[in-house]
Amino acid sequence: MSHPPVPNPGSFPTGGRSWGAIPGSAASGWGAIPDSPGGSTLLTGIGELTTNVPGGAGTGDGDPTGLVTDAVVLLDGGRVAWAGPAREARDAVGRALDGRAPDVTVDVGGRAVIPGFVDSHTHLVFAGDRAAEFEARMAGRPYEAGGIRSTVAATRAAPDDVLRAGLARHLDEAARQGTTTVEVKSGYGLTVADEERSVRLAREVTPEVTFLGAHVVPAELAGRADAYVDLVCGDMLAACAPHARWVDVFCETGAFTPEQSRRVLEAGAAAGLGVRVHANQLGPGEGVRLAVELGAAAVDHCTYLTDADVAALAGSWTGSGAWPDGASGAVAGTVATLLPGVEFSTRQPYPDARRLLDAGAVVALASDCNPGSSYTSSMPLCVALAVREMRMTVAEAVWSATAGGALALRRDDVGHLAPGARADVVLLDAPSRTHLAYRPGVPLAAAVWKDGVRLPAG
Ligand code: NIG
Ligand code: FE
Repeated sequence: MSHPPVPNPGSFPTGGRSWGAIPGSAASGWGAIPDSPGGSTLLTGIGELTTNVPGGAGTGDGDPTGLVTDAVVLLDGGRVAWAGPAREARDAVGRALDGRAPDVTVDVGGRAVIPGFVDSHTHLVFAGDRAAEFEARMAGRPYEAGGIRSTVAATRAAPDDVLRAGLARHLDEAARQGTTTVEVKSGYGLTVADEERSVRLAREVTPEVTFLGAHVVPAELAGRADAYVDLVCGDMLAACAPHARWVDVFCETGAFTPEQSRRVLEAGAAAGLGVRVHANQLGPGEGVRLAVELGAAAVDHCTYLTDADVAALAGSWTGSGAWPDGASGAVAGTVATLLPGVEFSTRQPYPDARRLLDAGAVVALASDCNPGSSYTSSMPLCVALAVREMRMTVAEAVWSATAGGALALRRDDVGHLAPGARADVVLLDAPSRTHLAYRPGVPLAAAVWKDGVRLPAG
């Protein structure tokens, strides 16, 4: 059987050498990496490949991130066809393509490759911005959940096309930074019609749609939270469930009580939605334990935790280990999703990631991109903050932003690079993933493939 030649990637350039050009790319940048829509792309010369597949060929013992140095990845038909060490690539790639030559071959010159980021928590259906609120906060005013209502007013007033344009702009911005899977919540409509519109528009751009009618009590029902919860659990849920995969609630002082939250989540689950929860963001509370009790896929924020909360989160994964293999589909527990963009933008204390990890909880990182508490779509920023401010290792942070996000969405097809996984891949303009934290604020996503198709990057 014939097979395509796999070029020897050589070693990573060091000692004053500049990056080599990528064959086929213009000297000015990466714009000319060839596309192969629906076809096959072979990436060779990968200096450091994060697969998130422990025990795969070329990986170190006990490394949950399945790191392979001197690696090759083959994308074919929208899926990963093969990923592993260059020394095994010639035969493996030939077999995977059944003797065909790849449509496109790119020697990445020693750069690092990671799975596309899985951003499991965003609020991207909104209009307006709250820069003035941010400025006031930076001048000393505290963050309060009530600021959400000003975005509700702007969102209700916006025509569909304005909301669509905002979604497209933010998703494009995220993709350029390496995000290939995005969850999008409603929660700035808060009427039956406006929430239905939010989840419907979100469903146009992602399958990971969350109904968050219980974000706050809208101004017109102030003081009548239980009546609003009736609406959320009744007509609003009925209108939104057909467009959504998940139900969520903001279980927090100033938003919804644990009892109200339970009603919303149980109604959502009865309507066939998976459960996720916003909790323990602004202070301690019962939300985390409620989430675990109800079998939520994730509980997000987790800034103020008791020992009992940490034990509940860790205990939800009993038997699967602290770093479950994203590829195996072992998805029994509740992921603690940490959102460091919020603490950065609100000057709250960062959540104690080490306490969670050391206890055996499963941690994801997400952006929480929204116009109030965290107006960033940047998963690289979240990785950098997690490493610098939350003392996660680089390996933990990158895993949490990819495989961890996949577990938080109970997805076994993203967040890792193994044969059969979606061909969602980020090529970093750096020799290692460490640069994501080491070079904060620098656009390092040199090229991004989603379902095997190259997206604009940079
Ligand atoms: O996740 N916590 C509740 N909701 C958002 C904040 C939204 C806003 O401030 O507009 C969050 O931080
Ligand atoms: Fe949020």
